[in-house]
Amino acid sequence: MRVVNSGPVSPLAHQPNPEATNAKEKMEYRNFESGDLYDRVYNTYKLMHTNQTVDFVKRKHAEWAGCTHTTLTVMEALDALDQLVDESDPDVDFPNSFHAYQTAEGIRGEHPDEDWFHLVGLVHDIGKMMALWGEPQHVFPSGRLNWSVVGDTFPVGCRFQNSIVYRDSTFADNPDDRNHAYNTKNGMYEPKCGLDKIFMSWGHDEYLYRVLKFNKCTIPEEGLYMIRFHSFYPWHSHGDYMHLCNEKDLRMLPWVTEFNKFDLYTKNPELPDVEKLKPYYQSLIDKYCPGKLHW
Ligand SMILES: [Fe+2]
Ligand SMILES: [Fe+2]
Repeated sequence: MRVVNSGPVSPLAHQPNPEATNAKEKMEYRNFESGDLYDRVYNTYKLMHTNQTVDFVKRKHAEWAGCTHTTLTVMEALDALDQLVDESDPDVDFPNSFHAYQTAEGIRGEHPDEDWFHLVGLVHDIGKMMALWGEPQHVFPSGRLNWSVVGDTFPVGCRFQNSIVYRDSTFADNPDDRNHAYNTKNGMYEPKCGLDKIFMSWGHDEYLYRVLKFNKCTIPEEGLYMIRFHSFYPWHSHGDYMHLCNEKDLRMLPWVTEFNKFDLYTKNPELPDVEKLKPYYQSLIDKYCPGKLHW
């Protein structure tokens, strides 16, 4: 993640130039092969695919899952995202808090009665806050690339499948790719063991899931799945890793793909009026994950 501003600012101060970020057709999203942001995106994935190993992920669980870093309300965490731009995302170059409200409002428009779903849209990326606490990052001329916070996720401990972005060119230096305990179809897992038993590459999805569980938030299971696996594109968008899924995973998959629609296609230069929307979303926070949370 790139820290774009260190102080509290109005989200509207970051309004991107509409001429530079015209609305896209659906097929133009997630273009990993070309575009202005190509180098930044590729370098982030190269680092991620080199360093995300079973050992690394286990260390991250030990480091973060105890939620001992700080206490913040959900709204405070969300406001902190104003300081961050996601370097792995080929579709946006503006702070993440806009994306939060765009996703939430898109969901609210199509699913007006499922208020927990609106809240999931709002909060799904706030685990990216890890970047503010110095999760491993490499400094490049284009900024700090935070390969263990952002980007698509994938299981470690079993073969890296071809549906992973840049699979061909970015795993050569990952030791797990040459380890026979890990580089078979099932690797260290039992077939159909369920995604709950899988170690995913470490990032903001798993972190926020852990935070919400730790704090006993009451977002329904469908919403927790969306949060935990929304970056698992090889699964929800390419149908890979089904041999590790159990029945519950397959039941939840349509919810994750429904969420993905909004996560992806609401990214556009028409920015919502955040101040006007805040009271509604505060009421959802109060309902499902109130007060100060441990992070
Ligand atoms: Fe995300
Ligand atoms: Fe997102």
